[in-house]
Amino acid sequence: MSTVHLTGPRVVLRELNIDDAEWLPGLIGHPDVFRWLLDDVVPTKEQLHEILQHRAATAPDGQPRRKFELVVTVDGAPIGFCDLEVVKRQRGELGYGLHPAYWGRGLIGEAVRLVLDFGFGTLGLHRIHATTRPDNMASRRVLERAGMRLEGHHREDTLVRGEWEDSVHYALLARDHVIPASEC
Ligand SMILES: CC(C)(COP(=O)(O)OP(=O)(O)OC[C@H]1O[C@@H](n2cnc3c(N)ncnc32)[C@H](O)[C@@H]1OP(=O)(O)O)[C@@H](O)C(=O)NCCC(=O)NCCS
Repeated sequence: MSTVHLTGPRVVLRELNIDDAEWLPGLIGHPDVFRWLLDDVVPTKEQLHEILQHRAATAPDGQPRRKFELVVTVDGAPIGFCDLEVVKRQRGELGYGLHPAYWGRGLIGEAVRLVLDFGFGTLGLHRIHATTRPDNMASRRVLERAGMRLEGHHREDTLVRGEWEDSVHYALLARDHVIPASEC
């Protein structure tokens, strides 16, 4: 598959690359973002650079891609991430985060919509799933606005930095998602 590049009215999503090691730790490590993520620690720029370099060097050739780590940009500037991972057959898992300076403008909703169109349209996925913490109201709203349905509340199923946390599960089926004609 060629490099993924998704264009919306305000945001453009491009593939994560080694240069993103410069700014990404600042986003992940922002306290208002990190509190909602599952990562144990925030990688340093150097660690992330090494990870991305290693990943680029060892990317499997000729096999279907499973991970799409996309950077959300506005006017060329990176402001967040929106990832899609293909888990098992024709099922996808969605994740995202935005720098707080850009919150409240509906930009992640636009990015999520592009990724859902890509997942259902280009990848032909059957189902896309996302989880978040029950009290992450902004994230829940993003998923609801994208048309994802609440499927359940799981008690203490996620170990986050030594604490068991509940999670809420949302999903969308391909047949319930309207894909723009250009993506079909
Ligand atoms: C989740 C996140 C991407 C949302 O970004 P955002 O720019 O605020 O999102 P949007 O502007 O598209 O919309 C957020 C919606 O949530 C609502 N919202 C925000 N904070 C809220 C709160 N505390 N309680 C209730 N609703 C809230 C907003 O009013 C808006 O609702 P609307 O669509 O009806 O207008 C951002 O908060 C973030 O990066 N959080 C940290 C990382 C994260 O939580 N990732 C998901 C982990 S699973």
